[in-house]
Amino acid sequence: MDEILIADDDAAIRTVLTHALTRAGYRVRAASNASTLWSWIENGYGDLVISDVVMPDESGFDLLPRIKKRRPELPVIIMSAQNTVLTAITAAEKGAYEYLAKPFDLNDLVAIAQRAIQSAKSDGKKAKPANNVNDDLPLIGRSHAMQDIYRIIARLTQIDLTAMITGESGTGKELVARVLHDFSKRKNGPYVAINMAAIPKDLIESELFGYEKGAFTGANSRNSGRFEQAEGGTLFLDEIGDMPMSAQTRLLRVLQEGEFTMVGGVKPIKTNIRIVAATHQDLTQLIRLGQFREDLYYRLNVVPINLPPLRARKDDIADLVNHFLVQAEKQGLGSKTFTPEAIHKLRELDWPGNIRQLENLVKRVVALYPQDEVTEDIIEAEIAHEQPIYQPHGDMSGNLLNLDNSIRMWLENCFDSQDILENDDLYRQFLTEVEPGLLRYVLEQTAGNQIKASKILGLNRNTLRKKLKEYDIEIVKISI
Ligand SMILES: Nc1ncnc2c1ncn2[C@@H]1O[C@H](COP(=O)(O)OP(=O)(O)OP(=O)(O)O)[C@@H](O)[C@H]1O
Ligand SMILES: [Mg+2]
Repeated sequence: MDEILIADDDAAIRTVLTHALTRAGYRVRAASNASTLWSWIENGYGDLVISDVVMPDESGFDLLPRIKKRRPELPVIIMSAQNTVLTAITAAEKGAYEYLAKPFDLNDLVAIAQRAIQSAKSDGKKAKPANNVNDDLPLIGRSHAMQDIYRIIARLTQIDLTAMITGESGTGKELVARVLHDFSKRKNGPYVAINMAAIPKDLIESELFGYEKGAFTGANSRNSGRFEQAEGGTLFLDEIGDMPMSAQTRLLRVLQEGEFTMVGGVKPIKTNIRIVAATHQDLTQLIRLGQFREDLYYRLNVVPINLPPLRARKDDIADLVNHFLVQAEKQGLGSKTFTPEAIHKLRELDWPGNIRQLENLVKRVVALYPQDEVTEDIIEAEIAHEQPIYQPHGDMSGNLLNLDNSIRMWLENCFDSQDILENDDLYRQFLTEVEPGLLRYVLEQTAGNQIKASKILGLNRNTLRKKLKEYDIEIVKISI
């Protein structure tokens, strides 16, 4: 029978707790002060401690570190009537399993006590989450989708080509840029990163290329730019899609001629740097919209690295979770494992925020839940709080193209290509382009139910059926 040690100077509380815990099947020892409790602990009694903070001889908070030192496996639940955030923080800092603000529900206490004892037991047998994770790896993931990326990265460690990393937000573009540098021949040179989206547009040129004294009002002395700072190493141009046109023109020159001039300067400066650029935007769209130089695009896109979204590499989720658990443990957030069911739950999600979203979720769960095992229920509760991020999959453009723009672009292509115009049926062709997408989406939403779909669309059922046939749209009925 498991034994619970209670310490509280209030006799009424001791009685109530003893009663509730005995009824729940535990043996209970109750002390009115800290020294009695300590003597039991020293003598190896108890599988769980439930202690008040304020006691006549010693504070529960002072006792807690001693308990952790003497019997690290013994879980301690702290109760306190001073329920400020500081009390809760102190309890967590000092290693309490859980903190309970008085007055609390006795059922809650019993449930927490059961959990604490359970997890202390499984602790001993528990396999470390790190068992199959090599934490020295710079990039985690063994999925098929990542193998192609690794191959490209491996090639780039030997050759010094310009690389362009694309991928949705949170897919690891910055991390890959760093890996490209750390494993390159330039690894002993500087690694300089600059994010175009984080710098006011009119400062980007002087940030990148530096400026001469007197180049503009306030330029009181010569200032080196990132190109100069990165000499002999790697320059990472993050969010390159946000680079203003004038800076693009200068950058193109550097790539073509291997030299640049400072803002306000005349003398060309030779450079020896490797450029790695990244963007979450679709640069080909930006080129069409006239916001990105096509010639620069080809200069940068020598080796494209397109990072897959997490939803396309769900096999990596378990490894990534373990990796973030190890990181969390190193940061002192505590050591936890995820149950296979919890991992399974994670695999069902779409992860619009990709690896960053997964990382945040893991760290949040580790920090907020006292349980050593993260279960499916915890994941469900946590993802219920997550704000869905609506991000159209195909189009990763940051300045989301609206429908009108898309229509214009489609039409521009038609007018460019001429042959569609020669067919004299642009109107029908346009409808052929948009109607199937509309019908498919509505049918998806109604789980293949044509009656519902025709109602939403405001179309006659027969008309809908005719159109589905015309467009060869297959109906997949899903029972929900
Ligand atoms: N393969 C990976 N293994 C381990 N950690 C990863 C991996 N990919 C990404 N991460 C982690 O995920 C987080 C997001 O990655 P990163 O900042 O590189 O993404 P990003 O593509 O640059 O995102 P954004 O477009 O929003 O700037 C970082 O904490 C990074 O360390
Ligand atoms: Mg980034």
